[in-house]
Amino acid sequence: MRRIKVTVDGKTHEHEVEPRLLLIHYLREVLGIGGAHSGCDTSNCGACTILMNGESVKSCTVLAVQADGEDIMTVQGLAKNGEWHPVQTAFHEAHGLQCGYCTPGMIMATISLLKEKPNPSEEEIREGLEGNLCRCTGYENIVKAVKQAAGSPVS
Ligand code: FES
Ligand code: FES
Repeated sequence: MRRIKVTVDGKTHEHEVEPRLLLIHYLREVLGIGGAHSGCDTSNCGACTILMNGESVKSCTVLAVQADGEDIMTVQGLAKNGEWHPVQTAFHEAHGLQCGYCTPGMIMATISLLKEKPNPSEEEIREGLEGNLCRCTGYENIVKAVKQAAGSPVS
């Protein structure tokens, strides 16, 4: 077992974990953060996307021990003072979700994309989110949501 100290959504946690434990399973099963979804555990779907030190990462590709000392943000940490993050608002208003399974990962990947490119073209949006799959095939509205969120303060 290894002791890790990780900040998740602004709160610091310390736990003894098995070295093989994936970060997605640490978030969901140890911390109870159900907003980080697990879709494939093989880095294909993007449902598990979180921000690690501000950059989007598929949390099924990272071991919990690799997150030791790092700053993690999940979809559950985005709202501030009861107000949604602008990207959450845009996904809601543009109907950028159907069943919602892919949505946490899409939102986190969008934040990362908009940090890098505040006003991306449609092609850049589609390319930026190509690692995130939507089983409901709601891509048109997802792209609309990202366009709506473009230019918002996303940090
Ligand atoms: S659960 Fe991580 S990419 Fe699918
Ligand atoms: S909204 Fe259902 S998987 Fe994307």
